Amino acid sequence: MSEYLPGLEGVPATQSNISDVDGERGILSYRGYPIEDLAERSTFEETTLLLLDGELPTAQRLEEFTQELRQNYRVKYNIRTLMTALPSTGSPMEMLQAGVSALGMFYPGNECLTDSDSCTDRDYVDNMTVKIIARMPALVAMWEHIRNGYDPIPPRPDLPIADNLLYMFYGEEPDPLLAKIMDTCLILHAEHTTNASTFATLVTASTLASPYAVISGAVGTLSGPLHGGANERVVEMLREIGRPENVKTWLDKQLDRKQIIWGFGHRVYKVKDPRAKILQKLMERLPAERGGQLSPLFETAIALEEAATERLGHKGIYANVDFYSGILYMELGIPIDQFTPLFAVSRSAGWLAHWHEQLSDNRIFRPTQVYVGEPLRRYVPLRERT
Ligand code: ACO
Repeated sequence: MSEYLPGLEGVPATQSNISDVDGERGILSYRGYPIEDLAERSTFEETTLLLLDGELPTAQRLEEFTQELRQNYRVKYNIRTLMTALPSTGSPMEMLQAGVSALGMFYPGNECLTDSDSCTDRDYVDNMTVKIIARMPALVAMWEHIRNGYDPIPPRPDLPIADNLLYMFYGEEPDPLLAKIMDTCLILHAEHTTNASTFATLVTASTLASPYAVISGAVGTLSGPLHGGANERVVEMLREIGRPENVKTWLDKQLDRKQIIWGFGHRVYKVKDPRAKILQKLMERLPAERGGQLSPLFETAIALEEAATERLGHKGIYANVDFYSGILYMELGIPIDQFTPLFAVSRSAGWLAHWHEQLSDNRIFRPTQVYVGEPLRRYVPLRERT
């Protein structure tokens, strides 16, 4: 193929059996299981094993994996010291990238979880996977306290990842509904075929770089507003709009100026993202189950979705996962700039599944390019240049 396709649209970059998206029908599945079933019936730990192993785990495998994760929730004190040296005004995604890289120095990974003498490649991969997935939540939650000048809250190894994450943010066991919502968000964001950050994962993995280099590169890629960073922009956009009755005027102005509507559009989905539907339903459940009202931001979001779908739907542009995730995280009390780090915590499961898959049949990525620069020419000495 010599034709250049911007953004590699439609170009298969890999073969994978981890997840699949049918963008015309709005279907997402992990290892063949529809996302709706996993969101309703699975847990983040179980979904992670499904992504990694290819099958739903037995009770024993799930129990062992869960215990390994829990034994690895805590990070070394020196990582906390390192974080205190970072500027408190810095971006949490940049902190996370630095934190993941630092994990690579503190936990280099040549030892296995059990017996280092009998380490196999598979043990190494499993060991690294557990260490990264278990520790990313601590990095995110620790930073929230450290940047505000407080001591971090140590993890609770008796809690599942979702509950422990909220516990490390707030210092108390979460309400079961909020913990379930966090767990569902983790499941929904865990994997999504060859998106930009997963593609970055494959490229870095193909050089046989360490898994920490692989994941920190993926975190950096996820941070951009066209990818995972969009959920933060959605909340800022909804705040700017203010109220449902302002939607129409705001949208007309935005589209006239050819501006982006954050949380809308997707390279693969030509209908509404199935994850957005699940998140929207969760958001609707909140007031019913907690005896409150719909959040004003959510009301504005519903009005915006309706109006934007009317204007953009004919182009196949509908709400994506980021449209409702930010509002939901706000209901959980998460600060806006921590939405994308939470996305990264969850997506680490998918990234690491792709890391495994890439290593199992590796060939370094080295695409070509269409050169459109100058032809070969003579070097002009400085004194002859005008
Ligand atoms: N608002 C307004 N117009 C849009 C939007 C949007 N959100 N998305 C696409 N369009 C328009 C473009 O202006 C373009 O119009 P044109 O043909 O008249 O020039 C057309 O739709 C095609 O858009 P592209 O940018 O070429 O589509 P692409 O597949 O390259 O980009 C992307 C996909 C980046 C997701 C884009 O839709 C976008 O910028 N969305 C907003 C950011 C966002 O929500 N990102 C999160 C995606 S989900 C995730 O990564 C977790």
